[in-house]
Amino acid sequence: MNHRISFRQKPVASFLIAVIFLLATMFNNLFAQTNKNESKINAMVRQMTLEEKVGQMAQVSVESLGKIEGDHFVFDEAKLKDAVQNFKIGSILNSPGEPLTAAQWNAVVEQIQNAAKQTKMKIPVLYGLDDNHGCNYVLGATLFPQQIGQSATWNRQLIFNAGVITAYESRAASVPWTFSPVLDLGTNSQWPRIWEDYGEDPYLDATMGIEFIKGVQDPLGSKDKLAVSIKHYMDYSDPKSGHDRTDSWIPEHYLREYHLPAFAAAVKAGARTVMVNSALINGIPTHINKHLLTGIMKGELHFTGFIVTDWQDIENVYRRDHITNSIKDATKLVINAGIDMSMIPYNYKEFCTDLISLVKEGKVPMSRIDDAVTRILRVKEELNLFQTPMSYLKDYPKFGSEEFQKASYNTAAESITLLKNDNNTLPISKKAKILVTGPNANSMRCLNGGWSYTWQGEKTDVYAKQYNTILEALTNKFGKENVKYQQGVAYNPGWGKFNEDSLVNFDEAVKAAADVDYILLCIGEDSYTETPGNINDMNLSTNQIALAQAMIKTGKPVITILNEGRPRIINEIVPGSKAILDIYLPSNFGADALADILTGDINPSGKLPITYPRYPNSLVSYIHKPSEGGGNPQGGDFDPQWQFGFGLSYTTFAYSDLKINKTTFGPDETATVNVTVKNTGNKEGKEVVQLYTSDLVASITPDVKRLRRFEKVNLKPGESKTITFTLPLKELAFVNNDNKKILEAGDFKIQVENLTTTFNVNKTKLF
Ligand code: BGC
Repeated sequence: MNHRISFRQKPVASFLIAVIFLLATMFNNLFAQTNKNESKINAMVRQMTLEEKVGQMAQVSVESLGKIEGDHFVFDEAKLKDAVQNFKIGSILNSPGEPLTAAQWNAVVEQIQNAAKQTKMKIPVLYGLDDNHGCNYVLGATLFPQQIGQSATWNRQLIFNAGVITAYESRAASVPWTFSPVLDLGTNSQWPRIWEDYGEDPYLDATMGIEFIKGVQDPLGSKDKLAVSIKHYMDYSDPKSGHDRTDSWIPEHYLREYHLPAFAAAVKAGARTVMVNSALINGIPTHINKHLLTGIMKGELHFTGFIVTDWQDIENVYRRDHITNSIKDATKLVINAGIDMSMIPYNYKEFCTDLISLVKEGKVPMSRIDDAVTRILRVKEELNLFQTPMSYLKDYPKFGSEEFQKASYNTAAESITLLKNDNNTLPISKKAKILVTGPNANSMRCLNGGWSYTWQGEKTDVYAKQYNTILEALTNKFGKENVKYQQGVAYNPGWGKFNEDSLVNFDEAVKAAADVDYILLCIGEDSYTETPGNINDMNLSTNQIALAQAMIKTGKPVITILNEGRPRIINEIVPGSKAILDIYLPSNFGADALADILTGDINPSGKLPITYPRYPNSLVSYIHKPSEGGGNPQGGDFDPQWQFGFGLSYTTFAYSDLKINKTTFGPDETATVNVTVKNTGNKEGKEVVQLYTSDLVASITPDVKRLRRFEKVNLKPGESKTITFTLPLKELAFVNNDNKKILEAGDFKIQVENLTTTFNVNKTKLF
């Protein structure tokens, strides 16, 4: 190669030199700044007493420091002083049981920070809230579809926007820390929190998580950004029982293959805090698992932020899991395992006293305490809390704005997934006469799910009454004269026989179908989260199935709207429904988006981020082994109602020209894959181009297929686009029995829609 710089190249060269110089200066400044911050933090830690350090490691729930009076939260001054000034606690969390306005949150946090200013070290308190789908504990904030719906959009930009808006509105309420995103892998559809996550695929999960984190955090330290807490590290989501906070049985190579990647990607993207799985893995409460917390998270992944427990999880090690004979012993195990902050949330004095004596007794080394405190102070410094402990609503004029609400609407509109559309039943005319029926037809609660205004979301009909239920949105769209409403049945969460008590006005509902053109059957689940959401039966409740069957029997076209947190089994009513839409938990603008989809103002483009099962005893996800279906000579049983990645449109798409740049690659090479997609229908629409790979032979039975890349594209009728995917082959490596990532030589298949091609990797390599 000729390194001489010719005359013509000179400007380019000087430009390059200038860029390199600029980058080097920026890097140096950043490095100097980081060093300065680190020395400042180290100096602080050196000045702190043991009591002050332990206080930083304690997180307390706000309800233990005051109560709601009327529509305000009022601190008990003595309790606040005791916690912040005597015990020097480092963090407060939670809503006091009712949501507050942003201005009320300002007042709450200001009182806390004023109390902190009276302490020797003047360390600001870090307030944290669960922002599962926007700032759901702040009245007037913009709520987004729950994560499962966000993921169903397969649209990175929408998730990024949701992050930006959540951070902005949280800062308007003075809260700089969010316990989101949830990166648990949605592999077990019985689990009551599956709707809080991004679905069952590790790549989709990681991709969406990174977008959200970038939107919330970057650049950390500016006035409209927060620190995230990725949770719940890890494998919380796949308990053997299907119930919340119970044991998961899993070998380490599967943990690393499926559950770790999203967390690893999030740490790489800069996630500043991690919350731990509140349950157990292989009989070991995750909170005492030093291998996962210190070994993998802080060691292998080089995580420099801090790790917080989940709710009361030190106590759980003792009381629930019977691992120790006292809370004090549990505290020892948890802190020595690598936990930096304990979400206590009530009995913080016991935690502080126990930890202080554990250090004095030499059972927890001082170096562990110093490490924890350094990490906590580092995040406070990065958030700029020492300089600016408060932020105020007045500086956030876009809080709750139309612009933000439109972003929520857009997310809902792109999440709604069309699962069935016989003979193009949808869209329907705006002049059609419709019957709206079912327990989900006229409630804001079921549209939002849990973590909405309150923990279980049970008061959403009061707090979100200004937004439209499905009935209200459809009445706006079709006109009052064209809409009839009969609820039909109520929820019947029990299982077994049809429950007479759950009848509301079943017969009237059936009669009302007589003179309409379409029946809009709105069924699913009410709000829940965590343990209260456990179920013993995946079937949709019997009363709802009975209503659906009665409606189908009328002979009028039934359009089934599924509004649920997890995919409840509905196989009995699929054949009789002319069209089926899954709207997940689309939040406050979801019903408006649904109305626009029903009438064709919006062309649906959501795709399932989880497999929709057909049978309760067959909950296998799309990531499975050949023996579990698809090509097993003995006959497999992978026969879901709808596959992961599935979703229809009002237009049609055709794929062609799937091409890979070579047929043989070395393990360090990158493949380039091209595919052309064309809108072959007569309506503009968005399609998600999904690239899957299959490892054809491997030393651990390979998964039938795995998602590796995707791209959502908008196409006008007749328009086509060629999508280029670049795929470093090391991403196809799997975790072997020695817990090492390995790419084994051999043949691979690439699949995009109905097209396939193959290639070969010529050498085995460990990564
Ligand atoms: C949940 C967490 C949540 C925490 C604080 C726990 O019960 O498991 O997801 O962040 O409470 O509200």
